[in-house]
Formats: sequence, C-alpha cells, structure tokens
Amino acid sequence: MHPATRHLPTTTWPTREQAAAAILFSSASLGPATTRTRTWVPAMVPWRASETGDVTPAVHAWYARFAQGLPGVLVVEATGIRDVPSGPLLRIGDDRYVPGLRELTSAVREASGGRTKLLVQLIDFLAIKRRPEPATFFRRHLAVTQEHRARLAELDPTLAGADDAVLRERMLALSASRLASVLAPRELDDLTRGYRERITDTHLPHIAALPRELPPLFAAAARRAEQAGFDGVELHYAHAYTMASFLSRLNTRTDGYGGALEHRARLAIEVFQGVRAAVSSRFVVGCRLLGDEVIDDGSRIDDAIHHSLALARAGIDFVSVSKGGKFEDAKEPKVGEAIYPYTGPSGHECMPTRKIDARGPFGRNLHLARAIRDALRAAGRVTPVVGAGGINSFELAEDALRTGACDFVASARQSLADPDWWRKMELGRGAEVRRCVFTNYCEALDQRHEQVTCQLWDRELDAPDPTSRDGAIARSHDGRRRLVPPAWDADEEPRRRPGPASL
Ligand SMILES: Cc1cc2nc3c(=O)[nH]c(=O)nc-3n(C[C@H](O)[C@H](O)[C@H](O)COP(=O)(O)O)c2cc1C
Ligand code: SF4
Repeated sequence: MHPATRHLPTTTWPTREQAAAAILFSSASLGPATTRTRTWVPAMVPWRASETGDVTPAVHAWYARFAQGLPGVLVVEATGIRDVPSGPLLRIGDDRYVPGLRELTSAVREASGGRTKLLVQLIDFLAIKRRPEPATFFRRHLAVTQEHRARLAELDPTLAGADDAVLRERMLALSASRLASVLAPRELDDLTRGYRERITDTHLPHIAALPRELPPLFAAAARRAEQAGFDGVELHYAHAYTMASFLSRLNTRTDGYGGALEHRARLAIEVFQGVRAAVSSRFVVGCRLLGDEVIDDGSRIDDAIHHSLALARAGIDFVSVSKGGKFEDAKEPKVGEAIYPYTGPSGHECMPTRKIDARGPFGRNLHLARAIRDALRAAGRVTPVVGAGGINSFELAEDALRTGACDFVASARQSLADPDWWRKMELGRGAEVRRCVFTNYCEALDQRHEQVTCQLWDRELDAPDPTSRDGAIARSHDGRRRLVPPAWDADEEPRRRPGPASL
C-alpha cells in the first residue's frame, strides 16, 4: 500500500447543530422532486436477485437497510431492461416484474418513513462470453478464413491447400507470439478475453438495430418503474455498457449514431426523450455518465461536457458523474471466466482503493463533476450534478457542495460499510461511523458474482440484524459473513468506534 494512504485521513465530524446548518443536510430539487438532503447512495449490485431477475427477501433487506440511514436519494442497482436471462441481476424487462418491484419500493418507503427518494438504475448491456478453452475456440468457434490460410502458409508452405481441420490444429499448437501474427486482432481478443459484442458490430442485425430498439425498451422499463412506485430512474450511460459505448470516442458507427460528438450523443438523447414521454411529469429521469473513460483514445471531460449539455438542453433531471470502468483495458480473465470491467486502470479509477497512488481515493473524481457543473451553469442550466468517488467524511462532502463541485454527494462504499453514517452525522454522532477502509473486499465479491458484503460487518457477527423479522441474522451461503450490516440504535447512548489508526 502506498505509504501516504496507509491510514485513513483523520476527520472532524459535525455537531448536531453544525449538521443542521450544513448544505449536505439541506433539501434540494431533483427535477420534479424535492429531496430531504443532498446525500445519495449510488447504484451497487449486491448479487441478491433470483436467477430469473426477481426481487428476493434478501433484496428487500439490502435496500431497507440503506433506507434506514435516511439518505436523500437511494439508487437501486443496475437493473436490466430486457427480458433475457442475465443471472442474479435485477430485471425490469417485462410487466411480471412490477409486483416484486412494488414490494421493494414499499419496503424502502417503510424503512425510511418516506424520507428517501428511490430511483432505479436502468441498464442495457451486450452479449459477453467467458474466455474459451483454446481447443474449443480453434476447433469450434473460429471461422477459418483465407487470411489465416495465407498467414499459416507463410510459416509452412505445405499448409496452403490443407483442410480447415488441419489449419485449426496447427493454430491450436502455435505459440502466443506466432498466433498474434496469424489471427486478426479481434479474433485474438475473443481467444484471450472472451467473445464480446461491440456497438460497432453493425454487420449483426440486432446491433445495427440498437438505435431503433433501445428507446422503446428503456421507455417501457421506466413506465414499469413508475408503476412499481419508484420516484424516478437513472439511465445507465456509464462504465462498460451499451449506452456508454455510444457516447464514447471509440464509437465509429457510420449510421448517424457514431463519429461526431453530436452523433454519439444522439441515442442518449433519444432514449431520454422516449423515457420522458412514457412517464408522468412527477417522475424523475436522470442519467449516470462518465466524466472520463480513462482508456486509450477514449472520451475525456470535453466529451462529457458536450453530452451533459446536450442532455440538459433536452431536459434531463440530473447528471451523475462516474469515471472509467471499461472493458478495453480490463485484465485478461482466466480460461472459463468472463472479463470484468473494473480490473484495469480505468476500473481502478472507477472504484479507487487506498493503493491507487499518493492522493488516494478520497474525492478523487470530483474535478470531473465540477467541470461538468461549471459548464452547465455557464450555459444557464441548473441541472443538478451528482459527484462520487471516495467520499467518506463530512468535511469532504460539505466542501464539495460549498465549492460547487456538485449538488448531491454520492457515497457507495462508505454507505456500504455503514448505511447509518448519514444519520450518525446528522445526529452529531459521527464518532460512531464505521469507516470504509477502501481496500475493495466488497468489489472482489462483486467480481466473482458472490453476495456482496463488507468485511467490517463481520467484526460484529452476532449483532442484531435490523431487517430481520424473526431475529435470525442473515448469513452468506458458507455462514461466515453477515448479509446485512449490524443494527445501530439512534436512541442508544453514543458509542465511540475505534479511531482510524487502529483500522
Ligand atoms: C459492489 C459494487 C457494485 C457497484 N455496482 C454499480 C452499479 O450497479 N451501477 C453503477 O453505476 N455503479 C456501480 N458501482 C460503482 C459505485 O456506484 C461508485 O461509483 C463507486 O464505487 C465509487 O464510489 P465510492 O468511492 O463512494 O465507492 C458499484 C460499486 C461497488 C463497490
Ligand atoms: S468491504 Fe472494504 S472497501 Fe468495501 S465497503 Fe467494506 S471497508 Fe469499504
């Protein structure tokens, strides 16, 4: 670990009076809604949905527990807009999901006493396959081409007229460096990182049709979200997924939806317009996008400013700013595993740990939110901007708001470590906050698609579970981890937590 980030920075928590006077705990407009505070829990996938993408009791418990901390806004995890199998990720691609989601919104409303606005993040993603066994790739998946034949014949002239089956076996036997000269770059990528569809694969009819198909899919999903009782939706235009790929500088589509900046923003605007038209004027419609893709030749802050301004002009209710999290620079997965977009430099910027560098993760990405907000204000737009990335203290959050970096402060991992941290601050009991140590134990679980938990909860393995109706403490499959953070009683005498030096 970098010496400068070995310890968490010490911080001063506000008194109850200071919290009452803080911008952080003041109300704010979010499109047609008014939030109680400017505190925000951004989307986090906990891997608790059923295999069919339905809400489970564990999903209720997860979000009810966050709601008990009374954030101004809570965003439900990335939820798939299509009705296709996608493992234990929540889905909203059919009307049959509405009753389960309605129970979820009721559970959250009950847990927060109606004081938390609840959004759901709507996501579309393209097909991705696990990294194949080389034998399977060469014997079954690879289409043998004249280029392969010609390149192999340069290595061994007797292969010029050989059967495809012979060529497949020869390629299977080649060294990695030889293969790099025989396979096309995309084929090599499919072999070493697993097959992955791109939005630029316009030779595939369903990829060519994305601009036509996505607006109604997002619109129908948003309509269901409103029926289910959500206060709004966050359109997922960030990280490694379809909509972010359209916004990206890497988008070279030639059908009017790629290339020039305004063409890249076009689908994002059309999706927003389709959604806006499908829901009532009381319903919040915002988006999450990338301030910087952090990959070679990818989008930078100038692109993000353009897209944010275009969306603001179209009437978007908020822009939430994230960073990185791309497939392009992700680590090669092991054979049999799927590539995970948070393992390369861009992924490390998305969920920065204390190891990242001397600056550490704390408020690391706020400059991007600030640049976008400044540009919006200069253009006369009041669109709220949400900032995130290593926000773990009152000082950092309040400073971000006071200096105009953002209008809402989003905190994912600190809220995971301690969902009550917002309340503790508001009540002048910040000394009791269980402080996130930013070493990404939770993110490693996400990577393996295992139930996400926080390592700090297990220090109080037997403390009551405040979402449990029968007193049982929900545990992971192996029984060794808590699935829900320990209870915290706001009426109890204050308890002091161990100081940062002992973390
Ligand atoms: C376990 C986990 C799951 C996440 N899932 C999502 C997601 O579904 N959608 C999203 O936009 N961001 C997701 N994120 C990213 C967070 O919302 C947030 O942007 C990131 O963790 C940086 O903020 P932080 O430093 O406050 O944690 C996830 C993060 C974690 C740790
Ligand atoms: S597991 Fe680690 S990084 Fe994740 S929330 Fe807990 S303390 Fe923070």
